[in-house]
Amino acid sequence: MNPHRKIGDVILQAEAISLSFGGVKALTNISLEVREHEVLSIIGPNGAGKSSMLNVINGVYHPQQGRVIYRGEARSKMRPHEAARQGIARTFQNIWSRSTSSST
Ligand SMILES: Nc1ncnc2c1ncn2[C@@H]1O[C@H](COP(=O)(O)OP(=O)(O)O)[C@@H](O)[C@H]1O
Ligand SMILES: [Mg+2]
Repeated sequence: MNPHRKIGDVILQAEAISLSFGGVKALTNISLEVREHEVLSIIGPNGAGKSSMLNVINGVYHPQQGRVIYRGEARSKMRPHEAARQGIARTFQNIWSRSTSSST
């Protein structure tokens, strides 16, 4: 860990994010922050906007309003490979097993 970073420092901020797909408002004025060593969960029913929010943070979508600040730098049009280079990546929930037993 970088010695200048302390547990509890804010490393990722999403500020007042709004994202629409045509007339569908996926995100309206959403803000969150993640601190060093924090594990943050986003929960909500299907269609609540969880995936959209993650895709704003990792640069797949660019919000119409708001901004993402990562390690003190505002990112307006960050692309996914640039986010990955800085340590932001997304994985998916597909879980599979080689055994014949079922898994969840
Ligand atoms: N690429 C897209 N094009 C159009 N509408 C989308 C797209 N992605 C998500 N939406 C819509 O945005 C809303 C939020 O979806 P989503 O972020 O996938 O929610 P969650 O991951 O919480 O289930 C839903 O109304 C969904 O239909
Ligand atoms: Mg989703």
